[in-house]
Amino acid sequence: MTAIIEQLYETRDIPDTELKLLIETKHYDRELFQYADKIRKEYYGTDVYVRGLIEFTNYCKNDCFYCGIRQSNRNLERYRLSKDEILSCCEIGYKLGYRTFVLQGGEDPFYTDKRIYEIVSEIRKKYTDCAITLSIGEKPYESYETFFKAGANRYLLRHETADTEHYAKLHPAEMSLENRKNCLRNLKKIGYQVGSGFMVGSPFQTTDCLIKDLRFLQELEPAMIGIGPFIAHHETPFNRFKNGDLQLTLRLVGILRLMFPYALIPATTALGTADPQGREMGLRAGANVVMPNLSPVDVRKKYELYDNKICTGDEAAECRACLSRRVLSAGYEIVTDIGHVRSLKEQPKK
Ligand code: 5AD
Ligand code: FES
Repeated sequence: MTAIIEQLYETRDIPDTELKLLIETKHYDRELFQYADKIRKEYYGTDVYVRGLIEFTNYCKNDCFYCGIRQSNRNLERYRLSKDEILSCCEIGYKLGYRTFVLQGGEDPFYTDKRIYEIVSEIRKKYTDCAITLSIGEKPYESYETFFKAGANRYLLRHETADTEHYAKLHPAEMSLENRKNCLRNLKKIGYQVGSGFMVGSPFQTTDCLIKDLRFLQELEPAMIGIGPFIAHHETPFNRFKNGDLQLTLRLVGILRLMFPYALIPATTALGTADPQGREMGLRAGANVVMPNLSPVDVRKKYELYDNKICTGDEAAECRACLSRRVLSAGYEIVTDIGHVRSLKEQPKK
């Protein structure tokens, strides 16, 4: 084993200079993926967890330069799901074996704290054995607290980039990395299992940005880390930028697995969009979560964060079956389980 991989495997950390080398060359890839898979099996066996994703609104008050549902995109038909529609997605998902529902949406002021409270409470009442994950952006501390009281127990909020200047190149002036980080810290403080993450190959990203991403994650210690390649959306200011590199994304999945053995790392839809086998490759590089789409088929195409997003045509059951096949073909197995993070203190599963 090369010294650099050995150190990462044994101590979960390496200095910046070595990280840079690992990120910038394909030289270590084979060994990196081999050890990432080894440690993933020590902690999680071949288990892959599923999270049913419900994209309940594509309205967004923000204007992130990379995102297809940004407010300034006037060529997008907007939609919102009612509470009943969301509940019927949960019902379908529950029957398919999902024990985690992820409610994701743009930052949509229509869904006031009271509305979110009501939606979450009702899901909580009906599905006592499920995890409820929210992914609805930056909110004040009190709002996060309200949702937690309603029964939400997980929250996904990618930091997108941990470099202040880079952050400013991806977002309008009203948004700041500082606020984003504060939100993440607040969520943890309240007691949520927090998921964060970043895009790989977003415009103006450098290796130093990626190193900062990893360092920030070490500080935050999130339960879940989601990454995917940047993919240009034709109706955004970044429409002419080139897409993030698939191999670099996989390499970062491997590095993340070695640095955060306990983490839940999804093989993301963006990976599957970058390559038809992207999610399978993600699983082999260390990912252990898949997030099949549970949104009603008629709205799926409208939740287009980037061009050519996959899984927009299939019914929930088809999506589920397709993912089961893919996970099996990669050498792993979907488990129907609430899929909590295994804490640092727990014994690895041998
Ligand atoms: N390419 C890849 N990922 C994107 N996201 C948003 N826009 C894009 C894009 N153009 C990601 C962001 C966000 C998540 C929901 O989707 O990282 O946090
Ligand atoms: Fe919606 Fe960025 S455009 S959060």
